Amino acid sequence: MKISIMGTGYVGLSTGVGFAVKGNDVICVDIDQKKVETINSGVSPMFEPHLDGHLKDALKKGKLKATTDVKGAIAETEVSFISVGTPSSEDGSIDLSFIESVARQIGEVLKNKKEYHVIVVKSTVVPGTTDGVVLRNIEKASGKKTGKDFGLCMNPEFLREGRAMDDFLKPDRIVIGESDKRAGNVIEKLYSNFMAPILRTDLKTAEMIKYASNAFLATKISYTNEMGNICKKLGIDVNEVMKGVGMDHRISPHFLKAGVGYGGSCFPKDVEALIWKARELSYEPKLLEEVHRLNDRQKVMIVEQLEKKIPNLKGKTICLLGLAFKPDSDDIREASSIYIIERLLQKGAKVKAYDPKAMEHMRKIHPSVDYMKSAREALENSDACIVVTEWDEFKKLTDADFSKMKSKVILEGRRILDRTKVSKFEGICW
Ligand code: UDX
Repeated sequence: MKISIMGTGYVGLSTGVGFAVKGNDVICVDIDQKKVETINSGVSPMFEPHLDGHLKDALKKGKLKATTDVKGAIAETEVSFISVGTPSSEDGSIDLSFIESVARQIGEVLKNKKEYHVIVVKSTVVPGTTDGVVLRNIEKASGKKTGKDFGLCMNPEFLREGRAMDDFLKPDRIVIGESDKRAGNVIEKLYSNFMAPILRTDLKTAEMIKYASNAFLATKISYTNEMGNICKKLGIDVNEVMKGVGMDHRISPHFLKAGVGYGGSCFPKDVEALIWKARELSYEPKLLEEVHRLNDRQKVMIVEQLEKKIPNLKGKTICLLGLAFKPDSDDIREASSIYIIERLLQKGAKVKAYDPKAMEHMRKIHPSVDYMKSAREALENSDACIVVTEWDEFKKLTDADFSKMKSKVILEGRRILDRTKVSKFEGICW
């Protein structure tokens, strides 16, 4: 099928390239001319394993092109996905201005398009958005009616950074929210060559499935961190406990890793947005509030543990190994490292850091940190070290790498150091 993708950020580009891999003709649309040129040159604007390879292949086969021309893209395609950003506002609600603006632009083009067209919201939007502001803006700008002149669907993404192409091409499930059967049938046909169960439902339910999924995964992580905090006081290894817990098929072994808390552009934002929406509906979501609060606390608890070993951090040099919110990513959005650095600087410490991919992004937020070329360099003359991201290369660190530290105070916020190679360190929950 011929499809257009409005917004070529992390979700939009992965989706566009993924549909091209599955044989569709894809037009990726973005307002950023530079981003469009980068994509057309075969380079993905963001670091995502395998995306560049698939993009180059799709361009070579003529299955994908990027453009700033919304009008042309909609005229040439039968389905348009909306995958623009829905950033958090101060109060935790999501900013829908990009969604509204794209919906209006699509409506303006549909005004003069005779053929049936399906619009699919893929951005993460709170329940009631697709059949609310999206539907209203398209109908107002086009003068046409949903269900009669065009179809409206909601198809949430479940992509993990660093695994986006895998997660797109081999999803656990495909959720299609639809304004009407005809629209849903078009999108089911688009996904017909994916090997995954398809759930057809209404628009609001599809929106809620996305939030409920992410809120559950975030809850699993905060639950594990709570178990870790208790286990640490009991002198029990939470990792071992979670191995036993995860053997229950109803629980599964996934997302049971304790550490310095979840970050990224999704979990924090989605949990806060769901809390905000519930409150707007006069419901107090106590469980989600606790998940969020515990996660915030987990992000800086490791600094308190450090102060137990070095009571006065003023003037001390602390080395952070890892800055990205997760390994195999250059993304530092809501990363625990941001909050740990803030706390250390507030206490008068000097911070050195090393991360294989994320240092340039962190330099924009914390320019006073010394960014080093390697873990060993960052460790040299440091009074303490905190491992914040579980990059594979930190698995190889040995006592020799830590020997250049001024004092061997090593704290691990993620489980990665090899106990047979590094003799003395303590974990946040172990
Ligand atoms: C997440 C969801 O997994 C994905 O389905 C959704 O579409 C977008 O949000 P992502 O944010 O890319 O994906 O990363 P993910 O791998 O889920 O990890 C999120 C955060 O949770 C990371 O900071 C990670 O370190 C943390 N985490 C994950 C834990 O602390 N413990 C775990 O057991 C798993």
